[in-house]
Amino acid sequence: MIGPKSRRTRIVLGVTGSIASYKAVDLARYFMKRGCDVRVVMTESATKFVTPLTFQSLTHSPVTLSFWNETAAGNIGHIELADWAEALVIAPASADCIAKLTIGAAESALLAVALATRAPLIIAPAMNTNMLSHPQTQDNIAALRGRGHTIAEPETGELACGWVGTGRLASRREIYLQTMRAIGPRDLLGKRIVISAGPTREMIDPVRYISNRSSGKMGLALATEAHRRGASVTLVHGPIVGIASLSRDIRRMAVTSAAEMSDAMKGCVAGGRGETEADVAIMAAAVADYRPATIDANKIKKGPSVPTLPLVENEDILKSLGQVGVANRKTMLVGFAVETGTHEQLVAEAKVKLGRKGADIIVGNRAEDAFDKGTNQVWIVSADEEPLHIETSAKRVIARAILDKIVMRLRQLTSCELTH
Ligand code: CTP
Repeated sequence: MIGPKSRRTRIVLGVTGSIASYKAVDLARYFMKRGCDVRVVMTESATKFVTPLTFQSLTHSPVTLSFWNETAAGNIGHIELADWAEALVIAPASADCIAKLTIGAAESALLAVALATRAPLIIAPAMNTNMLSHPQTQDNIAALRGRGHTIAEPETGELACGWVGTGRLASRREIYLQTMRAIGPRDLLGKRIVISAGPTREMIDPVRYISNRSSGKMGLALATEAHRRGASVTLVHGPIVGIASLSRDIRRMAVTSAAEMSDAMKGCVAGGRGETEADVAIMAAAVADYRPATIDANKIKKGPSVPTLPLVENEDILKSLGQVGVANRKTMLVGFAVETGTHEQLVAEAKVKLGRKGADIIVGNRAEDAFDKGTNQVWIVSADEEPLHIETSAKRVIARAILDKIVMRLRQLTSCELTH
């Protein structure tokens, strides 16, 4: 029997037979470490690659192998498992399994769970590149996607069969992120969000630059959270680490200087080439306010006197994006304000920046709370509303609160449009 519903996310992991089956062991651990309860269902061919005992020891739960041993002590009925699941993740999913999913076959316990569950289905194909590119497999994958199931796209690289091509199981991080999105709130589904993150670098000469302490973690957290909630996300980022932690769904644009960031942000927000104008733009980047008036082509050498560095002002990107009148602007603009004073001064400054930059929301934070940290505390300031204080929390939690606020305002805008 399965115990009472726990607060941990309940994942049923379906494992089919593939040379990638062993990777499902690591995947199960990855889910468990991130607050999930995992129950495993294996096809018979999967047991040729990994033993059920491995999964059983790891998940501390019996592994479901067939209909016929369901009455054995400790075993879980396939319907019970289907009802228990918050998500069914099939990883690796073989070509055979994918084909059978499309026709609704129920010959194995895994297929029966897939047929019976109402939970989102996440399919992570892994197979030989020719099997994957076969028109039948492609049709099958397209059919499953068309039914609203999530496909964690296989990666390209060296395959166990000796071929180089597409067919390698998606990374455990990608499968996890796709699963979280599939079971997420979907309150940003269909929305385009463009986020800037990290510092800019303003070159002085080929070896030196002006920059700041921004790590980009807040922007990365916002991008991950927006993706989880269903948005289509573009991240325009300065030189930062951690980009690899993002889902492959997130479009990335690497820039260096403020001028490059400005071009990228304006282009992405405006859309074009089949894309609509962005619904939301979040300037989480710490853009350098000044740049050297000229960039020296050669390294500046030490001389008899201390050199002076003439600076010119950079464009204020947020302000430029806000220049289009609020009445005819479609994109909601969100900025940050980094200050070093008291929280009262911070809120006052955030209100000033709200008006000066034509933003809809300014997230105020203090340099001492934000820089180089995995946590932050913020005051979310918007016109005609009391500032909302979010106490010191992980940047993931802060990102959630900021996006809650954005979703609320998007809903208000939609209801305003409907009543006019
Ligand atoms: N910002 C921008 N372009 C700039 C400078 C800042 O788009 N050249 C954006 C930041 O991304 C942030 C907001 O404006 O969303 C506020 O940035 P902040 O550094 O706090 O304020 P500044 O406008 O630079 O003003 P000050 O440095 O005087 O506080």
